[in-house]
Amino acid sequence: MPDLKIGPAIRTRLGRYEIPAADAYRSLFINLADCAEVLASVFPAKRILEVGCGDGSFAQRLLERYQDAEYVGIDVSDQPGRLFRGDSARASFLSIDSSSFRATDPGTFDLVVVVDVIHHVPHHLRESLLRDVRDLTTPGGHYAIKEWEPKPGPAHFACWAADRFITGDRISHVPSAAMRDRLEGLFGDELVLEARIPPHRHNYLLGYRR
Ligand SMILES: C[S@@+](CC[C@H](N)C(=O)[O-])C[C@H]1O[C@@H](n2cnc3c(N)ncnc32)[C@H](O)[C@@H]1O
Repeated sequence: MPDLKIGPAIRTRLGRYEIPAADAYRSLFINLADCAEVLASVFPAKRILEVGCGDGSFAQRLLERYQDAEYVGIDVSDQPGRLFRGDSARASFLSIDSSSFRATDPGTFDLVVVVDVIHHVPHHLRESLLRDVRDLTTPGGHYAIKEWEPKPGPAHFACWAADRFITGDRISHVPSAAMRDRLEGLFGDELVLEARIPPHRHNYLLGYRR
């Protein structure tokens, strides 16, 4: 069966309404400004990396909260940061995977964030992505993973269906307990932040000190 992927077709038809439509769509599932607010209230940072930055929606919210920080967003997509409308003097976007990026950067970021990415990544690539995230975090710095709790219910069904058919990816969500166990088993770093992000308790955020 061919993969359904309706996102690009919708986007090209939206024209100047693409940004408000993308914001409205995303806000059905997560309040990105709240997520940035929680991170900024716990983790000070001057240099932030986002792995899987997508169109730059979260980048914009992060830079609004981190007024003195420099931001780098990387993604395997063609045009990362395409919809970013924040302070471009402090933001750069690269189309590159995390392991190639790691080969160019010795791990100088005091905050590395991964928001709604892991469930898009094939299982066999997840561990190496998580290792890259940690290695790119400076010792004493923090890394944070935001994911979606796969608890049955209408919100979960809507989120799964939207992600599956808009991106075309064969997504698979990781429960928060399994994510904590995995990160604990891989690195043993201290869990210093555990939060839920509105508007759904499905949105969990885990933050670690490297
Ligand atoms: C739902 S978007 C999230 C974008 C952004 N983090 C945000 O919250 O606005 C998921 C992104 O993960 C990216 N992605 C998927 N697999 C990836 C990988 N192996 N490495 C980096 N990014 C990846 C996709 O290209 C997509 O842009």
